[in-house]
Amino acid sequence: MFVNLRCIKKIQIARLLTTGLVLSIVMLCWEDLDHHVVSHVRSYSYRFLVNNHNFLNSSYNLDTNGHRRSFGNSLDPSPLHPYLINQLKKCSNSNDILLLVFVKSSPQNDDRRHEIRKTWGNEDYIQEKFNANVKIVFVLGVHPDLRQRRSQKNVESEAWAYNDIIQQNFMDTFHNLTTKLIMQFHWATKYCPKAKFVMSCDDDIFVHMPNMVGYLRSLEQKHVSNFWVGHVHRGAPPIRRIESKYHVPMKLYPWVSYPDYTSGAGYVVSGDVAAKIYQVMQILNPSMYIDDVFMGMCAQVIGVTPQDYVYFSGEAVTRYHPCIYARMITSHGHADDVRVLWKEATDPQVERMSKGFLSNLYCTAVKVALLCLPHQRGTYGCLGAFT
Ligand SMILES: *[C@@H]1O[C@H](CO)[C@@H](O)[C@H](O)[C@H]1NC(C)=O
Ligand SMILES: *[C@@H]1O[C@H](CO)[C@@H](O)[C@H](O)[C@H]1NC(C)=O
Repeated sequence: MFVNLRCIKKIQIARLLTTGLVLSIVMLCWEDLDHHVVSHVRSYSYRFLVNNHNFLNSSYNLDTNGHRRSFGNSLDPSPLHPYLINQLKKCSNSNDILLLVFVKSSPQNDDRRHEIRKTWGNEDYIQEKFNANVKIVFVLGVHPDLRQRRSQKNVESEAWAYNDIIQQNFMDTFHNLTTKLIMQFHWATKYCPKAKFVMSCDDDIFVHMPNMVGYLRSLEQKHVSNFWVGHVHRGAPPIRRIESKYHVPMKLYPWVSYPDYTSGAGYVVSGDVAAKIYQVMQILNPSMYIDDVFMGMCAQVIGVTPQDYVYFSGEAVTRYHPCIYARMITSHGHADDVRVLWKEATDPQVERMSKGFLSNLYCTAVKVALLCLPHQRGTYGCLGAFT
């Protein structure tokens, strides 16, 4: 009996191993089977089993092909494109800046900018109500369509009225997002180096600024450095289908897996990271046009790994409920309802609801129902119910 059992076990192990082997071969060779699934499994295996991105090698350095940008004086590096609009005084007249927020916007999105200024991006309100020094900067290129260039006049008068727009002379297109990213880190390093935290986000995001300020203050007390937080994508594979918006050819990125990175919808780094990232940006080849992936590649070089915080939503929209509002940090996809959400999410009622044992119990139950049930996908993870 005993011998038999051992025999069976051996056979089972052998079977398991063979199955595993066959499966891996199928995964590696049969890419057309189901490109999406296979590339994810491959990438995951690579990311977690094979190695930790040792493959992102020096072939990505600019100096190997002689295109290295000026790197001499690190405090005054020359930007790739000249600034058309700049805000030289934005940070210079204040010392204690908790957070510098870059909102990636486009010339024609003035409606979104107005909504943000009236809601979560209202610097004066945040200063007055929470005694926090937060700076909002909208980051723009120029309209790609020449016939629309008269909108440039509107951008200029808007910038003049609000002092919160910066613009460089490159076409504001999807494939120039990495240029825009480099611009943000250049600006942070050169014009706002004392900011304790730096955020980059889309212009259709909602930031629960009171919660954000509380969260950053708790990090500040811990004196965090080398810090990068957001909604983390781990082991994501490059998309090779030509039809895809995110198509990345082998020539541009030959490896099966991207380094870990946070969703570009909204993430935060500590000030020291911003400075170091900008240094790296000048040596890495910026042709990876997906800006959040490029950020991951830069961070990889300086050894900074992104951390997940469950209430950064990534690409997803929040669940509308006071129990969620009490903890949420960001939510994506709010071009039209920023104002409604701001009003609801910062209602004094919300804070009251999250205090006390019974309310906590109630909110945990609600959050389990909203975040953990299988059909409730695509928002904060289930972990959010318990944090
Ligand atoms: C970097 O990786 C690529 C693809 O794996 C490889 O072809 C190349 O030789 C490597 N370059 C260096 C300098 O190691
Ligand atoms: C990016 O901006 C530059 C400078 O304006 C422009 O020449 C280039 O065509 C743009 N690239 C894309 C892919 O839009």
